[in-house]
Amino acid sequence: MEQNRTQKHTVVLVPLPLQGHITPMLQLGNILYSKGFSIVVAHSEFRPPNPLNHPEFIFHPLSDNLSGYQASSNNLVELILAINSNCRAPLEDYMVQLMEDQKLQGYQVACIIYDSHLCFVDSVATHLKIPGIILRPDMAVYMLAFRYFCQLEAENRIPFPGSRLQEPVPELHPLRFKDLPYPITNEIPEWIMDFFASSVNIRSSVAIILNTTDCLEHSTLSQLQQCYKVPCFPIAPLHKLGAAATSTSFLEEDQSCIAWLEKQPPNSVLYISFGSIACVNEQELTETAWALGNSGIPFIWVLRSDSIDGSQLEDHFPEAVKALLGERGLIVKWAPQKKVLAHSAVGGFWSHCGWNSTIESICEGVPMICRPHFADQLSNARYLTSEWKVGLEIENVLDRGSIEISIRRLMVDAEGKEMRQRMSVMKDKLEAGLQKGGSSYESLNDLTEFISQLPSMVQEVKVDDPATSEDLDHPYVGESARVQAINGRLSLQNYLFGSVVGRRRSVAARILNSDSGSHIIKKDEVGEEGS
Ligand code: UDX
Repeated sequence: MEQNRTQKHTVVLVPLPLQGHITPMLQLGNILYSKGFSIVVAHSEFRPPNPLNHPEFIFHPLSDNLSGYQASSNNLVELILAINSNCRAPLEDYMVQLMEDQKLQGYQVACIIYDSHLCFVDSVATHLKIPGIILRPDMAVYMLAFRYFCQLEAENRIPFPGSRLQEPVPELHPLRFKDLPYPITNEIPEWIMDFFASSVNIRSSVAIILNTTDCLEHSTLSQLQQCYKVPCFPIAPLHKLGAAATSTSFLEEDQSCIAWLEKQPPNSVLYISFGSIACVNEQELTETAWALGNSGIPFIWVLRSDSIDGSQLEDHFPEAVKALLGERGLIVKWAPQKKVLAHSAVGGFWSHCGWNSTIESICEGVPMICRPHFADQLSNARYLTSEWKVGLEIENVLDRGSIEISIRRLMVDAEGKEMRQRMSVMKDKLEAGLQKGGSSYESLNDLTEFISQLPSMVQEVKVDDPATSEDLDHPYVGESARVQAINGRLSLQNYLFGSVVGRRRSVAARILNSDSGSHIIKKDEVGEEGS
């Protein structure tokens, strides 16, 4: 490991090996590296990141027993559960070794930042007494929507009547019941519910980082901060804050898109992509192809080789439409999306509304056609269409007539121009947030300072009565409990950490008040309230 970093602190990243998750994690790594931290990426062997794209990071593969596994929208939960159970021991072994090595070199592991779905990391972090921080790659409202969804289940309100799906969800404006993360009109298997509940449980994590910003989700972020009594750092767009624009793609980017765009007039091209997981069926593919051909609008269409049943995509196009498509557009297996969206020739983006795609589009002021498939894509689309009014949704069954109308509304009509103007305003707001004094800029500085101080903030205190710990309903349970020594931090960041302190103090107090008398925590070990 190189020794000339400005800080002697190492941050370990543990990403989920899905494109929409690993991208923001590596972008965050770039940002933290530029702030002086050393970066170690502990990743699954399944779909590893390319170390050549990040020569400044250390990469360590975790044995995962997942060879031969394919990620698709049908087996994502199984994949994530398998990673959670298979990677725990390899991560712990590696961390023990890493911490020893780091100590010898005068370095220290400041924290582990991990994807919110990888709860196994929390148990390793807790066991090794390293602070854990969660990275959420999605909007803050998605976490709240998940909590609401779990609440519905707890209140036995699932299955939910289909007739009420259009109704607004209380306290989650502008979401409707149909925008919640998972279909609620049928029974949900217990293991799926457990998985969802686990993904909104932050356990002993000391903070949450979100790829969102105050200007997009001001009130939602306040709500989130009320629910989770640890500091939340909304920092977005991550890809605009990183030092270098390195590729994070698993698939090879087809750079011919850019040369092709150079020949197109400004705002003329529709870019179509459904991210890394969503698929289309044969009928949707054919209807879309006809609509594109008939519309006369130039396009770049990303069709991954696994976009439809693994078969050759072009085989699905009727001969008549092949000729039309060939004249007007470009079909590629994977595009350099950020560069495409930044190109002046691109006037619209038909997207599945994954959050990375959404925020990348906002950053470049490109209005959208929204066709969400699952998960947070539903709530993202709702924000785009109803709250920010920068996108229009194609709902129900796709047919060539309605697709063509939507394409024209976005690319040709006055409605599309108005959406482009509103997107441009959003783009300016995001950019302002990245400047000194802007919300993302300041939040990043807070995060940097927070991580730098973590090693000195965590004190170990012994709790030798596990029964008492269980009563606490608090993540720090078991043989030992960690309590944050927050004194120094509180004086610096009173507004951020006041509530955190309150909670941690009440934990300490409850341990102290237990009548077993066997605990060794003393009040002064955790500082004075409000100090
Ligand atoms: C998944 C979920 O579907 C999404 O809803 C969630 O918010 C994150 O995880 P994914 O479906 O892949 O992600 O969509 P998205 O979040 O949009 O991420 C796709 C990434 O791949 C984007 O960063 C995009 O720039 C990139 N991409 C996509 C390319 O680089 N080239 C392409 O051709 C298509």
